[in-house]
Amino acid sequence: MTGGASLFVIVFTILNITACLWLIWWTSRHRTAEPDKQQQAAGTAETMGHVWDGDLEEYNNPLPRWWLGLFIISVVFAAIYLTLYPGLGNFSGLRGWSQVSQYEQQVALQREKLEARLAALKDQPLEQLARDPEAMATARNLFAANCSTCHGSDARGARGFPNLTDDDWLWGGEPERIYESIAYGRQGVMPALGSVLGESGVNEVASYVLSLSGGKAPEDWVAAGKKHFETLCAACHGMDARGNQTIGAPNLTDDVWLYGRDFDTIRTTVRDGRENQMPAHLELLGEAKVKLLTAYVMSLNSGRRALGSGDSEEPLTSQNEHEGVAETEVARSDRQSSDQDSEPSSS
Ligand code: HEC
Ligand code: HEC
Repeated sequence: MTGGASLFVIVFTILNITACLWLIWWTSRHRTAEPDKQQQAAGTAETMGHVWDGDLEEYNNPLPRWWLGLFIISVVFAAIYLTLYPGLGNFSGLRGWSQVSQYEQQVALQREKLEARLAALKDQPLEQLARDPEAMATARNLFAANCSTCHGSDARGARGFPNLTDDDWLWGGEPERIYESIAYGRQGVMPALGSVLGESGVNEVASYVLSLSGGKAPEDWVAAGKKHFETLCAACHGMDARGNQTIGAPNLTDDVWLYGRDFDTIRTTVRDGRENQMPAHLELLGEAKVKLLTAYVMSLNSGRRALGSGDSEEPLTSQNEHEGVAETEVARSDRQSSDQDSEPSSS
């Protein structure tokens, strides 16, 4: 508020209250005894001098006492409130209270509570944390606030964002590996190999990849694709195509897919490559929270292998696991059109 506006509010408010006080004083000074029935009947009772409809007069009655009492209480309350709390222009009140400071105090209090809870949990082993329902409730909130935008609130991921509940890992499911993924981040880089392979080479190697997880593709393509795979892909994905967790190269023989299992998606991956990033969270969240989140991710895995408890619950299946299963057959007609695509046009 500007100084002028503040002054206006202060003067106006104080004037109002003073006027109220004056009104009380004035009405009680002019108080007369309530006219009794006889005076009224005799027409000698004091009236206000107003006459309506020829004979309707107003007696000069004092204010009812209860009303006057409320009036005085309101004025006293206003005076005390305006001295202690902000209300009079820019005057912040003797108690120094403000909405902002109250909010900040509450936030600080909650943060202190959380820090205390985290400090108590910090030194527990991850396996124990993962089994502690209270710790996991805190961790669920942390996950919702920091991770669910990418991995989904149920942690089952989406296209390009790995499912964290399926016990299938790009970078490894051991507690230390999960901790590293969260703390330092990960960068998955699949190089673009379209220019090396040519369009027919891309088709062949994609057919081979499909065949690894039981998809149908023309046999000669698969055979040719296997050769390409051994020279170009095996270094990262392994000779057996089971992947390599040190560089985040996925296992291509199972039915878990980051981008999808249909022929076109695989071709796109091989031709154009993929780059994918999991951001580092250690600096952002601090060690205690990263530990708690590591335990949370461990707790999500239904196989509970990470927890070593031999739980035989049904494994959860993810959305991306079944993506495009219906489209895994590669038709010959595909080959014709693709071959034409890849030939330099002579016209
Ligand atoms: C900006 C999006 C984003 C956010 C936020 C994010 N992640 Fe990730 N995360 C990814 C991506 C993308 C990958 C896969 C990286 C790759 O392709 O190699 C990944 C990978 C991971 C992995 C490794 C999975 C595996 O299979 O090895 C873990 C564990 C993980 N994230 C946990 C978390 C946790 C816990 C949080 C919250 C603190 C989080 N992520 C926040 C995008 C994100
Ligand atoms: C330099 C190492 C490297 C080479 C070489 C490489 N890849 Fe990859 N590939 C990766 C990585 C890392 C990823 C994961 C990318 C990500 O996290 O987004 C990947 C992802 C893929 C995917 C996606 C899997 C899914 O779940 O959606 C396919 C398919 C694939 N690669 C096939 C191939 C084929 C076929 C070749 C050879 C022509 C090849 N890769 C060569 C490292 C490599």
